[in-house]
Amino acid sequence: MNVTHLECSLCKKSFEAGKAHNLCDCGGPLLVRYDLEKARLNWSRDQIAKGPNNMWRYGPMLPPRPESIVSLGEGMTPLIRTRRLGARVGASDLWIKDEGLNPTGSFKARGLSCAVSMLVEFGIRKVAIPSAGNAASAMAAYAAAAGIESHIFMPRDVPQANYIECKAFGSHVTLVDGLISDCAKIVDGGRATHGWFDVSTLKEPYRIEGKKTMGYELAEQLGWELPDAIFYPTGGGVGLIGMWKAFEEMEALGWIGSKRPKMIVVQAEGCQPVVRAFERNEARSQFWNGAHTVAAGLRVPKPLGDFLVLDAVRKSGGTAIAVSDAELIDAGIQLASDEGMFVAPEGAACVTALQKLLASGFLKPAERIVIYNTGSGLKYLEAYATRFPRQASGEQDKLGGLITPR
Ligand SMILES: Cc1ncc(COP(=O)(O)O)c(C=O)c1O
Ligand SMILES: [Zn+2]
Repeated sequence: MNVTHLECSLCKKSFEAGKAHNLCDCGGPLLVRYDLEKARLNWSRDQIAKGPNNMWRYGPMLPPRPESIVSLGEGMTPLIRTRRLGARVGASDLWIKDEGLNPTGSFKARGLSCAVSMLVEFGIRKVAIPSAGNAASAMAAYAAAAGIESHIFMPRDVPQANYIECKAFGSHVTLVDGLISDCAKIVDGGRATHGWFDVSTLKEPYRIEGKKTMGYELAEQLGWELPDAIFYPTGGGVGLIGMWKAFEEMEALGWIGSKRPKMIVVQAEGCQPVVRAFERNEARSQFWNGAHTVAAGLRVPKPLGDFLVLDAVRKSGGTAIAVSDAELIDAGIQLASDEGMFVAPEGAACVTALQKLLASGFLKPAERIVIYNTGSGLKYLEAYATRFPRQASGEQDKLGGLITPR
């Protein structure tokens, strides 16, 4: 526990650690700051392997006290070198970080494990969250584990898996006719009347701390040498901001050098506010009207931390690119048959983006490239079922009418 304070990412105002916070008065998200000098002296990267085999092995760079931690085993997901896909697309050093193996099948487990641990530390017993889907599932799971009351708001057409998980975990679920932005307004508006704490990503400063462990793990798994490029499917972009923060922290700890990967934002054609802002050379994105994509986690029409995402992408020499739903589903099926990994449409989008950036020459075949598959394909059966429709059972499926009543 090396936290010193929290700092506004916009106006740099300082906030006391050890207290619950939402946004700064100026509207800026707060970032947790640590005494990196002290940590550098007291903790070395060689000690990490002695820690737990999950994201809490980086505990000294995470905010909760050890006794507050609510863990379901999140993190330390495999980093797998591709067997056939790399050769197919023309990338000889291609890796996939498979976040689909986390509790509740997505990387959102990391953020919510950390945030819920802090809720426990602060004695907060009632929370609300707006979600595109997977954050809701993770919120519901960790709230159940912590015995906290959770109120979940997500779009009515959210993948079935997210809805069923939340109900099974015992959350109060409201399906909203709208997008995550509409859900966020309801959560914000209900704070005073319902007395719940708002766990919206970046409006709450600890989810990003959990997500940043994706960056620590990548460095550790690659022997403390970051890759040349990282593909990240970007909705709110919080995972990308978190990894960028992790790289800065690790450099200050003396664990890695100054080399940074090209950070590549991947969005869906039907919702690409960050790509548009990147192409227009703007510091912030503008609300994307009529957002639609089967990659539900990418349906974020106006990311709160857009300026942090864009800044990291530009500083890293990266880029931002959008792909169509048809392309990303094709890529997901190709990846499954090439590698034996059934990935979320969000992760699959990165495969298409990679092909485009190799074709344009932005990336070279020998570069070390890591794709973040942020979730499991099993959570998106409706999306993949469009390619594998099943006919109603025929006569030949029936065992003489004995089992299936006629
Ligand atoms: C599977 C999946 N990938 C990516 C994202 C986008 O995450 P971020 O907010 O870090 O951009 C989400 C968010 O819901 C998601 O569920
Ligand atoms: Zn501020």
